[in-house]
Amino acid sequence: MSKAIISPSVLASDLSNLAQECKRMIHSGADWLHMDVMDGNFVPNITMGAPILSCVRDNVPEIFMDCHMMVANPEQWVPEIAQAGGKSYTFHLEATKEPEQLIELIHSHKMLAGVAISPETPSSAITSSLGSSADLLLVMTVRPGRGGQKFMPECLEKVKDLRQRFPTTNIQVDGGVGAGNACQCAQAGSNVLVAGTAIFGSKDPKTTIQEMRTSVNE
Ligand code: DX5
Ligand code: ZN
Repeated sequence: MSKAIISPSVLASDLSNLAQECKRMIHSGADWLHMDVMDGNFVPNITMGAPILSCVRDNVPEIFMDCHMMVANPEQWVPEIAQAGGKSYTFHLEATKEPEQLIELIHSHKMLAGVAISPETPSSAITSSLGSSADLLLVMTVRPGRGGQKFMPECLEKVKDLRQRFPTTNIQVDGGVGAGNACQCAQAGSNVLVAGTAIFGSKDPKTTIQEMRTSVNE
């Protein structure tokens, strides 16, 4: 069984106070902080990039920044994100023609490599050699581009398939995830749960994180 990892998505935080928000989540039990990098090209929204991440790293040196790169040309940002303190770099399979070379590039910059698939991409697009070289597989449970959307339970079939094929790899779900459906995600085989609205919108993030963790460990 892979370790439970809870990764609050800072997109739902008070972004004017980002470093403090990250500290608050670490004190509430977060393992990772999920940083949604959007370029206005791969997705219609623009969020943050390496300059902001490096300020967060300087203020919160203990942070594990789980970088979800919703960008066209993901090869371009690997050195900058590594330099800014990114610990994992998850790119979209839909955004590159050479995913295996990209994984090597990410590893050469000492980050964990993640491969994300959007709802329209089947799990079969993750070949056995690709899945075996990745450290993390991200199954999106909403269309990438913004927080606060409704969870798509049908995407969990892909989680099941990937868990069967890659028993020890981290499998992450992202989009509309919270304490209410964490069990469903974990039962399908996910061990890395991302949640923005559910955690930052909670009156008691510590309990919400704990509930989500328990769902994975059960
Ligand atoms: C969506 C982002 C998600 C999002 C999750 O494109 O990748 O990480 O911030 O937010 P919630 O949990 O609110 O759906
Ligand atoms: Zn994300």
